Amino acid sequence: MPEPSYEKINTQWFPGHMTKARRMIEENLKLVDAVCEILDARIPNASRNPDIDRLAAGKPRLVILNRADLADPQITARWKSCYEAQGLSVLETDAKSGKGVNGFVPAVRRLLQDKLADYAAKGQAGRPVRVMVLGIPNVGKSTLINKVAGRKAAPAGDKPGVTRGKQWIHIDTGLDLLDTPGILWPRFDSQEVGELLAITNAIKAEVLDLETLGANFMLRLRALYPDAIAERYRFQPDPQANGFELLEQAAKKRGFLLSHGEYDLERMAITLLGEYHEGKLGRLSLEEPDDGSVAAGK
Ligand code: G4P
Repeated sequence: MPEPSYEKINTQWFPGHMTKARRMIEENLKLVDAVCEILDARIPNASRNPDIDRLAAGKPRLVILNRADLADPQITARWKSCYEAQGLSVLETDAKSGKGVNGFVPAVRRLLQDKLADYAAKGQAGRPVRVMVLGIPNVGKSTLINKVAGRKAAPAGDKPGVTRGKQWIHIDTGLDLLDTPGILWPRFDSQEVGELLAITNAIKAEVLDLETLGANFMLRLRALYPDAIAERYRFQPDPQANGFELLEQAAKKRGFLLSHGEYDLERMAITLLGEYHEGKLGRLSLEEPDDGSVAAGK
């Protein structure tokens, strides 16, 4: 399928506190035995900090594919294999319902089995291992930590970009977690990454132009999951239509009319993004791993 022509959108966004967060991670890395990186399973690549390989070099690493409940299960399985092939441990979770979260402590134990055996040999059995938990804002870090800790340990909320200080969270099972503020890019290397972060709520959609974001999201959906548009918005997306036209068709179907006979594209964009966020369009992944396999039916 030819590449749809996405509209230009400004996604340059990098508050200073993100630089501070990165510095804090560098400083605290020496205090931990392993690093756990939480990704959004729908956009593992875009939700991954590109500095992480350099920052966490030499530490055992666990990758968590969170929001697995909203992602395409077959694509998530391929991402899992892809990261495992790179020597990383991988866990799929839905932190909101708690599904998969009970695999966290065993996964950390497996990851650090040499260290734990070493502690036991020195008569220090029960000495806690320490894991730094990292993730971009709003990826579900607090929710996951709360579920792992089994209590309200970290404040959760749907507020992209909100910073918090670092805190240690003692998990009863011989494990301490270091919660750090989310880190995001020094810059977005592409419009695509910025858009994917806005679509999945990692950055506020309002910092972008909502109509353009909605139009480009329609193009993405048409390319990846045309049936989701047909099922949810009751029209077959025309392969020749641009993103705004697709958005307008959906607005027509919903009856989102402005007073002077035009359709309300902004309202439709907000609705589209909101419905994707709530999983009403189905389990849709927006990035596939570069593993050579051909996506079925796309
Ligand atoms: P953060 O610490 O990384 O910034 O994220 P936080 O835990 O605050 O989670 C952000 C939002 O994402 C929360 O939504 C939370 O419930 C939701 N969330 C976290 N993990 C998952 C998951 O695995 N699946 C799903 N579907 N949602 C998840 P919220 O503020 O309650 O709003 P809403 O998204 O429920 O509307």
